[in-house]
Amino acid sequence: MLPKRVSREFIDGLPKSELHVHLEGTLEPELKLKLAQKNHIDIGQETVEDVEKTYHYSNLASFLAVYYPGMDVLQTEEDFYELAMAYLQKAASQGVLHTEMFFDPQAHIVRGVPLQFVIDGFYQACVDARAFGIDAHLIMCFLRDMSARSAMDLLHAVQPYRNKILGIGLDSDEHHNPPLKFMQPFSMAVEQGYHITMHADVDQIDSIDHIKQALEIINVERLDHGTNIVENKDLVDWVNQLHIGLTSCPLSNELITDNDLKGDEILDLLDEGVKVSINSDDPAYFGGYIADNYAALANEYKVTPQQLVTLTKNSFETAWISDKQKQFYLEDIDNYVEEFEN
Ligand code: HPA
Ligand code: ZN
Repeated sequence: MLPKRVSREFIDGLPKSELHVHLEGTLEPELKLKLAQKNHIDIGQETVEDVEKTYHYSNLASFLAVYYPGMDVLQTEEDFYELAMAYLQKAASQGVLHTEMFFDPQAHIVRGVPLQFVIDGFYQACVDARAFGIDAHLIMCFLRDMSARSAMDLLHAVQPYRNKILGIGLDSDEHHNPPLKFMQPFSMAVEQGYHITMHADVDQIDSIDHIKQALEIINVERLDHGTNIVENKDLVDWVNQLHIGLTSCPLSNELITDNDLKGDEILDLLDEGVKVSINSDDPAYFGGYIADNYAALANEYKVTPQQLVTLTKNSFETAWISDKQKQFYLEDIDNYVEEFEN
């Protein structure tokens, strides 16, 4: 039965779906150092402690300045496979049954890494992870600080891999890079049958304008972060009417803003009926995987067990799966709660 109080045990066992995780953001310092040595790449640090010392950010741009250079160690198809497999095993151990994972091909292509290494390595990990009970899919992101032309080129380049990619997203630095800049590649992606989503990072200078463009013009199915809609009642109504999912990431919020997990916003939106979910974003850089994000929220805010259950249900209801699959996963959650013993 539903416990009286939230515990880590209850959080860990809840069946979850993760919809906002960047595979490149799951690169733990240990693996980064191992791959650097194997591939003879000087990353400037030699110990886990030294790597961790570089992990200080005050906003999205300062995070990205640490994040992109770290990718240099990813060179071979096996490196991409190992990265994704490590995340999938960790996610499965924290109760994830389904995940839709972001990746950034442009960040690798510009370094001379073939697109095929990236997609085949990541995709093979998705296939193999079925053996330990996790259903994993790929969302290819355009980097919004690169040109729309480059996004179009990428969309053409991935044609041979069409069946390995579930959806298209948009990430990287939002400042001066509005959704409208990518109208053409996103409408092309929809024509090709991809699902679409987009980052609307927290507390950006143009957050509300960008969210309006994403919802009203690009017609995204989900918003990644997006919690700034709480400032605008019309946007909350719009998101509710269209059943748009919001993929929120408390530990990422905490490190990218001034120590604010945005728990008040998350819980307010939940109260308003918005389909908000909890996710880890870049777990190796922000100090925790998905269950750690649920726990951080529950530790710092007054969150009831019922609210946690709703958050996990939202993560399946807004996933890109069939209605039948949603029904099975929601039943899994109900069974878990029913059989849970305090
Ligand atoms: N926002 C934008 N770009 C990113 C993020 C994010 O949360 N994580 C990795 N790249
Ligand atoms: Zn993100």
